[in-house]
Amino acid sequence: MAGFSPEWLALREPADHEARNPQVLAAVGGHFADKASLSVLDLGCGAGSNLRATYAALPHRQHWTLVDHDAELLGFARARLAAWADEARQQGEELVLAKDGKTITVDTRQVDLNKDLEWVLGWQPDLVTAAALFDLVSRRWIERFVAALASQHLPLYAALTHDGRETWLPEHPVDAGIHAAFTNHQHGDKGFGPAAGADACEIMAEAFRKSGFAVSSGDSNWLLDAKRRPLQESLAEGIAAAVGETGRLDPKAIAEWLAARREARSALIGHQDLWARPI
Ligand SMILES: C[S@@+](CC[C@H](N)C(=O)[O-])C[C@H]1O[C@@H](n2cnc3c(N)ncnc32)[C@H](O)[C@@H]1O
Repeated sequence: MAGFSPEWLALREPADHEARNPQVLAAVGGHFADKASLSVLDLGCGAGSNLRATYAALPHRQHWTLVDHDAELLGFARARLAAWADEARQQGEELVLAKDGKTITVDTRQVDLNKDLEWVLGWQPDLVTAAALFDLVSRRWIERFVAALASQHLPLYAALTHDGRETWLPEHPVDAGIHAAFTNHQHGDKGFGPAAGADACEIMAEAFRKSGFAVSSGDSNWLLDAKRRPLQESLAEGIAAAVGETGRLDPKAIAEWLAARREARSALIGHQDLWARPI
């Protein structure tokens, strides 16, 4: 797992799209079915994968504002989206895309979501969304985020929040030790205070319920096998490196685990999708 490099994001994109929970996505689409156009704010957009996974469920005219703190990724997102669309043109600062009969305009903005969260939500989109973001943020940030959404009556579609489930086959004697150390590493500060890690799904669902939102959620697990070998290997390398940083396991045991996981028959990595709307 090479951080948030464009290469890592490109490697995970097909698995992320395949994993999305269809019922949760259909509920999001159903909510906006009567609208001819929709404005969407994508938080921590990376290379734009969330737009490519979601656009088909949304109305024919869409305006997306993609935000990330990484300027290089924002440039990459524009290039990937232009290449992905059936037609693409630049109009002022906006990218105008045609894809499968939909017209999608896209703005990209460099924003630090820890500092400027309320400012960004003040743009009043119809829908706030994010993919693979919330396990990086802290409990405190989630509570602040949900409070801001509640005060502005904004709905959230959150895809692919890691929930800590991990099953590798065949089993390996060091699995439990690796899992415990990796879970611990995921609680490190990723720029938002101590990260919620695998607890993020529960923290979010509880915060939304307390704020009077209707919440639905469902699994969006990665099911990795021979077909996804490069992603599986890269993930195992990322886990091994993170566990090494904790100093909790003997490096030899980590190396043995990694060698076995490069060859693993399959891996299930648990994620959840969530749809929360104010009522
Ligand atoms: C795991 S990646 C997910 C990217 C994308 N949503 C996807 O599904 O491929 C997390 C993203 O959050 C962004 N990010 C992390 N911290 C951030 C911050 N403080 N402000 C804005 N974006 C941030 C990273 O740059 C990265 O693009």
